Amino acid sequence: MTPIQKTILDKKTTNTPIWLMRQAGRYLPEFRKIRKQNPDFIDLCLNENLSSEITLQPLKRFELDAAIIFSDILMLPYGLNQKVEFKKDFGPQLGPLDLKKISKIDEVDFIEKLYPVYKSIKKVSENSLIKNRNLIGFVGAPWTLLVYMINKHSPKEKLIKDFFKDNFLINRVLIILERFLKLHIDHQIKNGATVIQIFDSWAGLLDEKDLPNYVYVPTLNLVDYVKSLKIPVICFPRGIKNYKNYCDIVKPSAVNIDYDVNPVFIQKNINIPIQGGLDPKVLLTDTENLKKQTLKYLDIFKDHPYIFNLGHGILPKTNPDMVDYLVKMVKDY
Ligand code: CP3
Repeated sequence: MTPIQKTILDKKTTNTPIWLMRQAGRYLPEFRKIRKQNPDFIDLCLNENLSSEITLQPLKRFELDAAIIFSDILMLPYGLNQKVEFKKDFGPQLGPLDLKKISKIDEVDFIEKLYPVYKSIKKVSENSLIKNRNLIGFVGAPWTLLVYMINKHSPKEKLIKDFFKDNFLINRVLIILERFLKLHIDHQIKNGATVIQIFDSWAGLLDEKDLPNYVYVPTLNLVDYVKSLKIPVICFPRGIKNYKNYCDIVKPSAVNIDYDVNPVFIQKNINIPIQGGLDPKVLLTDTENLKKQTLKYLDIFKDHPYIFNLGHGILPKTNPDMVDYLVKMVKDY
């Protein structure tokens, strides 16, 4: 078993494993070099040679316990033929959502469109660097993908005014998403992903009363599906106020917490394995502060199955030396 499997499946509490959300990306000069020569982000995700190389870049530098495949949650709407573009200094921009068009999408066409992602996973899984480590496949949760598909860009603090206006559309899209997310997960696992993470980056935008419809039920369906394939599934409902309710209902194999929640409360009240928590901004400060904040999480979770990670993705301005310091600290704890 890998260190992450020991933590999740055996509930082991020693030798805390570590990986970092968005570890393959813009804070690494070797990534920026490739990115500069590949101005189209989607094309880069669909280049299996480069995307597998980028996936392995952080493993070449740091003693991490997992690689996360270099792709994006928005490859799913792309696979459904909704236009997706990544604009410099703006982020993702999606095209019109045409229900008729996405209802007609055929599973074979979808897989064919995303085929390079699966080939890339296969390549990484065959690399010697992945030995005794996990290869993390991922998807966006149905709710977060719905947000992008209707809102068309990152919502920042709130949704567009008429977001919930067309209930028929929302329900249809959620059904389509569930089907294709399962397919996407299945192909990632078949090609070598050994853990699945579900990113629900916009879970925090919903009122408590809307969580069952948009977050709990659709995510539970996916979690049950991944579990049926005998693969651990980690959920990250970022910004959700009540992680305990979420875990009681959705029952992921492990849950990633964000940096706004109190880790002491989480440790006391949630008995499934925990991942993450450290504010990625701490990596922009100094080693003394990084040491203090890292020890805080390690100490709180010292008798709890815990995977070290951040409370959100690593920031582009992060100095790789700080990541090196962090990884070594966790390994030496
Ligand atoms: O973790 C990794 O290193 C693997 C790759 C990965 C990317 N996106 C690559 C990426 C993962 C796991 C994601 C997940 C993702 N994508 C999420 C969930 C996590 C989160 O951050 O909340 C979301 C919401 C997206 C959608 C998305 N993709 C946004 C909002 C943006 C723009 C802002 C940003 O974070 O850069 C992207 C672009 C993106 N995805 C980049 C990378 C490396 C930057 C592209 C570039 O170089 O311009």
